[in-house]
Amino acid sequence: MSKTARWVIVTAPTDRGDDPRDQVSAALATLRNRYPDTAFRTAVLGGSGPAVAGVLDEAAAAGATEIVVVSAQTVLDRKVDAWFRRVIGHWLRGRGPDAPDVRLAPPLTATDTYVDLLDAAVSGATTPARSTTAPLASPAWDEVPGFGRHVLVCRGPRCSAQGGPETARALDEALEERGLGDDDVLVTQTGCLFPCSQAPVVAIYPDNTWYARLHADRVVRFVDEHLVEGRPVDEWRGARRASATLEA
Ligand code: FES
Repeated sequence: MSKTARWVIVTAPTDRGDDPRDQVSAALATLRNRYPDTAFRTAVLGGSGPAVAGVLDEAAAAGATEIVVVSAQTVLDRKVDAWFRRVIGHWLRGRGPDAPDVRLAPPLTATDTYVDLLDAAVSGATTPARSTTAPLASPAWDEVPGFGRHVLVCRGPRCSAQGGPETARALDEALEERGLGDDDVLVTQTGCLFPCSQAPVVAIYPDNTWYARLHADRVVRFVDEHLVEGRPVDEWRGARRASATLEA
């Protein structure tokens, strides 16, 4: 990979749902043409898509010396903004003095052109809203699926910055390799599950078993022993309050 000294990371706070690359890809393509010496990437706080820490790692590995992080939110959410700063601060602490220079761009709402964005949206071509869109109900959604176990993989901000995306990916691969689908094990990526110091956190129901620091390199054993053989890996369970250990 050729070295690009300046990177721009465009963030969006998805908790679940779409990877923001779909939304910003056209804008980034234009920016790449304008600034061919800059690498442009997207990243998310949690949920689908590449996590902020992972893209910062990628930039550092590629030899970036300056990384500008800008939020793609068009309406400022100070809480989410604070989370991005925390995640980046955590990453910088982990890197130590050799970290690239990471800089934060002002929010889009702080620019003078924000009003022009709104103006362009309401002044341009519009499309009629239709009643022929897909309904909110379907017979396929009338019943709870018949899965045996529900695996909750935390993709909150702290877990997403500390291995959650890699764990989720490894879990998908391990289940697929073993032919286990949604009717066997239903996997849901969630927002923060609370014991953030144990990141990445994974919880299994109805077993009422919570795992701490279930990094990607532990996933195969976890799947084989707990999900296939039904034997929880006790040494990887996270610490719990007494009130949380009651049988489900
Ligand atoms: S972010 Fe995962 S438990 Fe809080």
